[in-house]
Amino acid sequence: MRLDKLLADMGLGTRSDIKKNIRKGKAAVNGSIVKDPGMPVTESMDIRYFDRPVYHEEYSYYMLNKPAGYISATKDENSGQMTVIDLLDEEQKRTDLFPAGRLDKDTEGLLLITNDGQLAHRLLSPKRHVDKVYYACVFGEVTRTDVASFRNGITITEDFTCLPADLRILNVKKYDNNADLTDLTIKTGSDSTVKIDISGFRPENAPLYVSEVEIVIREGKFHQIKRMFHAVGKEVLYLKRLSMGPLVLDPSLRSGKYRRLTEKELADLNK
Ligand code: URA
Repeated sequence: MRLDKLLADMGLGTRSDIKKNIRKGKAAVNGSIVKDPGMPVTESMDIRYFDRPVYHEEYSYYMLNKPAGYISATKDENSGQMTVIDLLDEEQKRTDLFPAGRLDKDTEGLLLITNDGQLAHRLLSPKRHVDKVYYACVFGEVTRTDVASFRNGITITEDFTCLPADLRILNVKKYDNNADLTDLTIKTGSDSTVKIDISGFRPENAPLYVSEVEIVIREGKFHQIKRMFHAVGKEVLYLKRLSMGPLVLDPSLRSGKYRRLTEKELADLNK
């Protein structure tokens, strides 16, 4: 591959800017400055651009702990909103990366960012029913009846009933109706909490319940979990994806941070 193409593929700038910079002596291959943008290069060469090493790999795989406020889209599709690709450092921002699957703007947690379309297709294919585990904080009292309804399949539209989902109740808190809940805080990870505003849901003169649950779904319909709870009269206040198939969110990855997948994680995804 040509040197300028490789640098452009890695998202390091436009092809014409890269050509100019190479001619100015900003690229080095195996320790020597190279001024020919068309120089043939291979992955095994030590390539530097502006003195920074360029890691060229055909496929890249990153585990991101998505924070709220970012849309699951690539730069090209966005409309002035921050995308999950914006969370990557410049060195990693190759142009062909995309999120494998979507989380809502306000959903947090595990997102795989890759340029491997085949792997993404395998993970997301509706026929494969890959398990996706979420932690949710729900307004309302989640009961064993709800657990049974989720197991039987929740109907979210007239013509769509979800596959059976596993719902596990972690905690149900009851507050009396004069409790001050302006800043309800819930734990969302070993080192993180989130403040939830439930003022819009508060019932008049009735006790109020907030439930924490874990839910496993095997599809990926738009707003699926929110719609499933809505169907049983409850509202999702906070949602975080914990795993997708064999890939588990690294608990040491703080919100907004990402890392490369390990070889083991990648091998497990390819099994
Ligand atoms: N279900 C939802 O409602 N939202 C998500 O982001 C993921 C699953």
